[in-house]
Amino acid sequence: MHQADLIKRIQELKLKRNAVILSHYYSRPEVQDIADFVGDSLALSQEAVRQDADVIVFCGVHFMGESAAILSPKKTVLLPEIDATCPMADMVDVEGLKRLKEKHPDAPVVSYVNTSAAIKAESYICCTSANAVEVVNSLDAEEVIFVPDKNLAAYVAARTDKTIIPWEGHCPTHHQVLREDVLKMKEKHPQAKFIAHPECRPEVLKLADNVASTRGMIMYAKNSPAQEFIIGTECGLIHGLLKAAPEKTYYCVSEFACCPSMKMVNLENVLESLEKMQHVVTVSEDVRVRAKEALDRMLAVKIK
Ligand code: 13P
Ligand code: SF4
Repeated sequence: MHQADLIKRIQELKLKRNAVILSHYYSRPEVQDIADFVGDSLALSQEAVRQDADVIVFCGVHFMGESAAILSPKKTVLLPEIDATCPMADMVDVEGLKRLKEKHPDAPVVSYVNTSAAIKAESYICCTSANAVEVVNSLDAEEVIFVPDKNLAAYVAARTDKTIIPWEGHCPTHHQVLREDVLKMKEKHPQAKFIAHPECRPEVLKLADNVASTRGMIMYAKNSPAQEFIIGTECGLIHGLLKAAPEKTYYCVSEFACCPSMKMVNLENVLESLEKMQHVVTVSEDVRVRAKEALDRMLAVKIK
């Protein structure tokens, strides 16, 4: 089917099913373009609650759809590609987390939203890259267990008086960005500001003019007087940057900064998901209720 026909059919089925399409900024450009809402992980969680559709087609990886299903149990949440999972989310397991909790009984668990529902259910509170520092600082505790991203944990540790006990996980897409990649790009584009996601290594973040969530990076580029930016995150963000500030120039920090999971969702499987009402995200009620408590606590934290 041609792209125009695919889009037409998706729009028709969206109406028929009373569905909305939510997409993360790392999705393919054509997928972002058919979405009703494109956002970072925090905004997508909030939007899932706000929408009053019967069906949410979640163009992203598994944990994102799961968060929507946890927060909005009355809606049917569909993932166009069931194999689109986040390798970082898979790096933390419930048994290992329980052992760490036993070692540090007074430390609440802060879990990045890039985790399974089962991990969220074992956590006191969740966070995203947009609110991690505020979430940790909101806690009445001296020690905090932070899972699964060690880079985000180090970023938070530098901005809090609390002791952060990190998990040894990382995002393969962000972790493979090296200091040398940034230095090379800075030499090639000396006028450009370097903006980076906190999932990058600490030595990469040290070189950044701004560190922020994906949405924060877009806001920074839009509002900055600078005209050129080196982008230290998954390169799908460049589509959102070009939409927000098309007159500016963006360079991806590394040609390898691409998340294979996020690219698995395409127009064909979005259409198929609406046609066949697949793949429905399910979370057992016991896990969902406990995971929701952790997400609700996060959503109650005020951020700047
Ligand atoms: P944010 O959208 O919260 O910045 O997260 C980035 C990410 O890696 C999602 O998978
Ligand atoms: Fe997971 Fe990294 Fe891909 Fe985000 S970019 S989905 S954290 S692997």
